[in-house]
Amino acid sequence: MFTALLALTACRFYQDDGDTAPPPPLPYGACNPEIWIPSGVLVDSPIPADPHKAEFGAEPEPWHVRYQWPSMDPSRSAAFLWRTDVDTLASQIRIAPTSDWPGGAKTFDGASFLFGTGSVGEGDQRIHELRLCESLEPGTAYTYQVGGEGHWSREIPFTTPGAPGSFDTFRVAFAGDSRGAYDTWRELITAMETHEPDFYVFSGDMVELGINQDEWDAWFAAGDAVFGSKAMVPAHGNHEFLAQSYFAQFALPGNEEWFATQYGGLMMLTLNDTVRDSDEIATVQAEFIDQTLAAHPARWRLAQHHQAAYSSSGTHGSKASVRESWVPLFDKHHVNLVMAGHNHVYERSLPIRQDSESPEGTTYLVSGGAGAPLYTSQDEQWFNVVFNPIHHYVIADFSADQVDVVVRDLDGNVIDSFTLR
Ligand SMILES: [Fe+2]
Repeated sequence: MFTALLALTACRFYQDDGDTAPPPPLPYGACNPEIWIPSGVLVDSPIPADPHKAEFGAEPEPWHVRYQWPSMDPSRSAAFLWRTDVDTLASQIRIAPTSDWPGGAKTFDGASFLFGTGSVGEGDQRIHELRLCESLEPGTAYTYQVGGEGHWSREIPFTTPGAPGSFDTFRVAFAGDSRGAYDTWRELITAMETHEPDFYVFSGDMVELGINQDEWDAWFAAGDAVFGSKAMVPAHGNHEFLAQSYFAQFALPGNEEWFATQYGGLMMLTLNDTVRDSDEIATVQAEFIDQTLAAHPARWRLAQHHQAAYSSSGTHGSKASVRESWVPLFDKHHVNLVMAGHNHVYERSLPIRQDSESPEGTTYLVSGGAGAPLYTSQDEQWFNVVFNPIHHYVIADFSADQVDVVVRDLDGNVIDSFTLR
């Protein structure tokens, strides 16, 4: 039953300025056993350490332990990340199906590397990462610990999703824009977890400054009670601005900027609208959207990115390039729901198709209410149904027949609800 084949051997840094070859192509969405971290993006590239089983520093007990999805199909692959002091090189996991824990636990080696050198005086950080590719059973409860002999983390449970195309009901929690307000973010994720979602989605701007590790530590610490067991799927926001700290601390499919996630009957696209070259929106990601949705029919189709195609906020408003390049593809492939943030407000649009109201159209949400300062000004727009500048979160229940969406403020008051069919 448990035939984990740990293929991870090393992590590599690559320049994305053309000096060094980018990662080799993989069948899109496959679990890449090698960790590739862009360097030369705002911070210098430290040299990765070799994996080592038994060297421990002064603070070897793992912290910020997280379970993540490194491939399009998360039912059979998983990544595990954690932090230690910089001198701890041991990078191991003990893992077994919960029904076979602890007697059936197997131990595998991961890798660690330093990141964050040169970041506003924060100094070096060590992160450990380990990927189990195509090794897990769908719909199965597992228990694991990370660290190394004598310094294991607590025992942490997680459950793999069902295989793509299989269907069961599931619940997703959405939020965005916590930057600078980590007490509010903690309050918000604590409230979200009371609804016991199966996974989390965050549409960008986790932090104010993408290279500031103090902010990342506060952001991850707020989620410590849940991120070990439940995947967080982030989108890249303008405040992360392609910092190495972003790529180092998440384990996501492909280039970690635009990728797909299959969860049972859901196909979710995560896109990046803060890019190095506008062609990455107009052409590269447009082709990715078109090809991915054409190749993977799903009962429900969802997209998330940071800067909204439809927003009536008087602060940032709508992102023209996204509306021009991506919305026609959302129309073409009948995307049900698009989540964005950037404007610090809750907004819901009419169902939109061909830039007009249509019962067959896509619903666009702006959920930028995870703590960042609220934006109160609104412009009158034909597409807007709800506009509420309030800290909030979104819970969506997916079933074969419908998606029930409920939006709540920090006190649990329902501020919007609607159903997609
Ligand atoms: Fe933003």
